[in-house]
Amino acid sequence: MVVRSGKVMTVFGTRPEAIKMAPVIRALKEREDIETLVAVTAQHREMLDQVLNLFNIKPDYDLNLMRTGQDLFSITCGVLNGLKEILEKEEPGLLLVHGDTTTTLAAALAAFYLHIPVGHVEAGLRTRNKYSPFPEEMNRTLTGSVTDLHFAPTDTARDNLIAEAAALYKIWVTGNTVIDALLHTVKDDYVFGPEFGKVDFNKRLLLVTTHRRENWGEKMRGIYRALIDLTEEFPGIEVVFPVHKNPVVRDVAYEMLGKRSAFHLMEPLDYEPFANLIKASYLILTDSGGLQEEAPSLGKPVLVLRDTTERPEAVAAGTVKLVGTAYDRIYEEAKLLLSDESEYNKMARAVNPYGDGKAAERIVNIVADFLYARRGAQL
Ligand code: UD1
Ligand code: UDP
Repeated sequence: MVVRSGKVMTVFGTRPEAIKMAPVIRALKEREDIETLVAVTAQHREMLDQVLNLFNIKPDYDLNLMRTGQDLFSITCGVLNGLKEILEKEEPGLLLVHGDTTTTLAAALAAFYLHIPVGHVEAGLRTRNKYSPFPEEMNRTLTGSVTDLHFAPTDTARDNLIAEAAALYKIWVTGNTVIDALLHTVKDDYVFGPEFGKVDFNKRLLLVTTHRRENWGEKMRGIYRALIDLTEEFPGIEVVFPVHKNPVVRDVAYEMLGKRSAFHLMEPLDYEPFANLIKASYLILTDSGGLQEEAPSLGKPVLVLRDTTERPEAVAAGTVKLVGTAYDRIYEEAKLLLSDESEYNKMARAVNPYGDGKAAERIVNIVADFLYARRGAQL
């Protein structure tokens, strides 16, 4: 009989956390010496369930928090109150959280209140700008303050943590688990399904996603105006835009772009078609964090529609460009890549500063050692 050295509870609530934690959960479940529990806050509902279904994750607990019009206060309080009873009952030896959402911070705080150690996956990303991205920069910084095991995806992230005086022995550079998920999902012979409607895969496709809070309102409208003008200047392109479920994003996107023939607006895609769509695209324009990590490894240039990025590695490698949110810059940078082949080729190289697809395995080995040592100390 295998003696279990401890119990790990993984907590997450949104689409990107689920995608990036799926490989970790799979690796945890393969270990007989670790009891693995999954609790979802469901800060996202449909977009979370899409990922749970794809990776066949059946949560042990589901707080079912999502409400239309939820704000930072209601999510934070909902997660704290919802997790209290669960953590008191289960008493995990380690709570694992991911990244920088409000679920992440509130779950880490709940564990801290109950003296439960915290492991932070994708630790150490920073812009050093309190309000950009908002609230993610402070979510991850504050989570780092109560974290016992920091799983940094890159050397830069590790150095950020060291600069904050986090104790060295608690930091491991593991790679980003998003690469594990991506490599598992992208297929050479993938066949796109009916959800793509009339998208012409023989044309140059611009893949667009937007959702960042600090871009809501006029900035988002400026981004969409630039896209409209690009489709008018380049009749050979089509824009594929799986629209985030947030009504703040949806309403503006459908109002400005919904009736335009060069635009294909659609529901958020399952991760499998989406990951394969990255590969089929010519150029990505996005304010997403995860896409800045995925697209470079598939050799797709990314224009980041934000003023700051916590992911400088692909920018340094030259495959990602931070273009901000002003109409002129977005229009000019995209126009350059659509009209100048040598400029395009400079960016369209596969680089992979974010991992080798084995991050989850590394994280779970460290977790196992931690639980083993902790159990030994308790005996
Ligand atoms: C959240 C995270 C952000 C992350 C993003 C990933 C916070 C504060 N924000 O932002 O860090 O980058 O997720 O997408 O943690 N909605 C649905 N169905 C869904 C998901 C969302 O209808 O499956 C709608 C709901 O009306 C919800 C709204 O979107 O109230 C906003 O969701 P919320 O999680 O608060 O913010 P996001 O912008 O998704
Ligand atoms: N994604 C997806 N379907 C979509 C759009 C994005 O599966 O329609 C994936 C994408 O590949 C990435 C993650 O969702 O892994 C990014 O999520 P999002 O942009 O919502 O959040 P962020 O990464 O900015 O926190």
